[in-house]
Amino acid sequence: MKYKGIIFDLDGVICFTDKYHYLAWKRLADKLGIYFDETINNRLRGVSRMESLEIILEKSTKKYSKEEKEDFAEQKNKMYVELLEDMTPADLPKEVKTTLDDLRKQGVLLAIGSSSKNAKRILKHLGLENYFDAISDGTNITKSKPDPEVFLKAAEYLQLEPQECLVVEDAVAGIKAATDGGFDSAGFGEASECEMTTYPLSGFAELRNIN
Ligand code: BG6
Ligand code: MG
Repeated sequence: MKYKGIIFDLDGVICFTDKYHYLAWKRLADKLGIYFDETINNRLRGVSRMESLEIILEKSTKKYSKEEKEDFAEQKNKMYVELLEDMTPADLPKEVKTTLDDLRKQGVLLAIGSSSKNAKRILKHLGLENYFDAISDGTNITKSKPDPEVFLKAAEYLQLEPQECLVVEDAVAGIKAATDGGFDSAGFGEASECEMTTYPLSGFAELRNIN
């Protein structure tokens, strides 16, 4: 492996929380009478909670105050956290765990770079609370992806330079963040189709082939 560190996005890379985010936002949107579907949900990938809410409110004819928006975001998060309660280590794909273990054996430092304020909670559910060498998440940043802050912080926590790290992402916003921060990137799903992605991949185990 030519990189000293790998920074993994969490939602959509290590685990699949998209369905829970979707269900929680859908319940809120239905309550407010706002149209919301899976296509709009795709635009929320990698984007912070408040920015996600703003995207959902684009379909609303009503204008809401800052306090109302904060209340909506809190309601969504409450529903989301309840849904996360069902997550267990069985929700960590085997391919992900064995690949992470192999990379670690090669001496690569492993970090999380996630926009989520629930990242540590999710890692706990998956049995990975003490696994990573560093965690940079929604609680230590002021700007969400596509800003590179979350990855720059992760590299700093690993005491590595961006050029020494690979960022692994499923969202185009994350690939933009990695590129702007000076990182090479590997991308799955929509991120594999992005022309800025250094290594377009179709499966997690393919990370082992990057050398
Ligand atoms: C990202 C997800 O990882 O975290 C986004 O891809 C989500 O969809 C964002 O909006 C913020 O998550 P949270 O858990 O802080 O509401
Ligand atoms: Mg993601």
